[in-house]
Amino acid sequence: MNLSKPIASKKATASDPIGVFDSGVGGISVLKHIQDLLPNERLLYVADSRYAPYGNKTPAEIQARCFAIADFLIAQGAKVLVVACNTATAAAIDALREHYALPIIGMEPAVKSAAEASKNGVVGILATVGTLQSAQFAALLESYGRNVEVVTQACPGLVECIERGEVDSPATRALIEGFCAPLLAHGADTVVLGCTHYPFVRDLIREVVGNQVSLVDTGAAVAKQVKNRLIETNLLAAGTGVGAVRFWTNSAALNAPAVIASLWGQSAKVDFFADGVLNTTDQDFYAGV
Ligand code: DGL
Repeated sequence: MNLSKPIASKKATASDPIGVFDSGVGGISVLKHIQDLLPNERLLYVADSRYAPYGNKTPAEIQARCFAIADFLIAQGAKVLVVACNTATAAAIDALREHYALPIIGMEPAVKSAAEASKNGVVGILATVGTLQSAQFAALLESYGRNVEVVTQACPGLVECIERGEVDSPATRALIEGFCAPLLAHGADTVVLGCTHYPFVRDLIREVVGNQVSLVDTGAAVAKQVKNRLIETNLLAAGTGVGAVRFWTNSAALNAPAVIASLWGQSAKVDFFADGVLNTTDQDFYAGV
């Protein structure tokens, strides 16, 4: 737990950017919803890919990463932070809100809407080990999962495939078949994509589970929540232009910018995010990209 005093950001203004981050590229699925709903906002995105996946890390390790990234985004002028990661939200949102004065929006698997949408009362949840083992997830099930049968499935290895940009490879498909099999065996008619990476393999999941199963994620709901918080805090950007979007990654993979651009679906300005852990060799390596 961080015991230092809360950091008050400089006086935020409506023209400041929104800071969004994830363990890696997954949160770009949320960023798309934010841009769709709020096209004139300037957006900053940090992919903490060097430290992905978060799903098998301890809450203390994840908190340390979240603080490093939050400091970075605040230094870049972010007016609000969006934790575009279910695992990081479960591990760190309370500590972040305790420490920082700016609004912080997190996310959690869509158990409530899935339970409401399910016709046969069987809901499958795909998420990381960290999310499924968290106290927040237990509380979510307690609140919204009581009247349905919930089948949970951790998906080790899937985030790594998506980080490499393998959104339709045979290996990714084989993993998805294995993870969806128990959900289908239980007869789930609704499946929650409880990790922000998974919308990038929605097509593969759809092929595996078939057209009768509903797939639910929270990207659009999070974007609405961001808009509401900006309105409440008088920080909604004015004007009708299209806001600039900047990406940072600390991945040393040569194709990291290409993976980001491909998932974003448009050209992307990607810079290197040095956080005191990377050595200069990494930066030189990356600078040549
Ligand atoms: N994208 C993340 C989530 O929403 C985390 C995945 C990971 O790093 O394990 O849970």
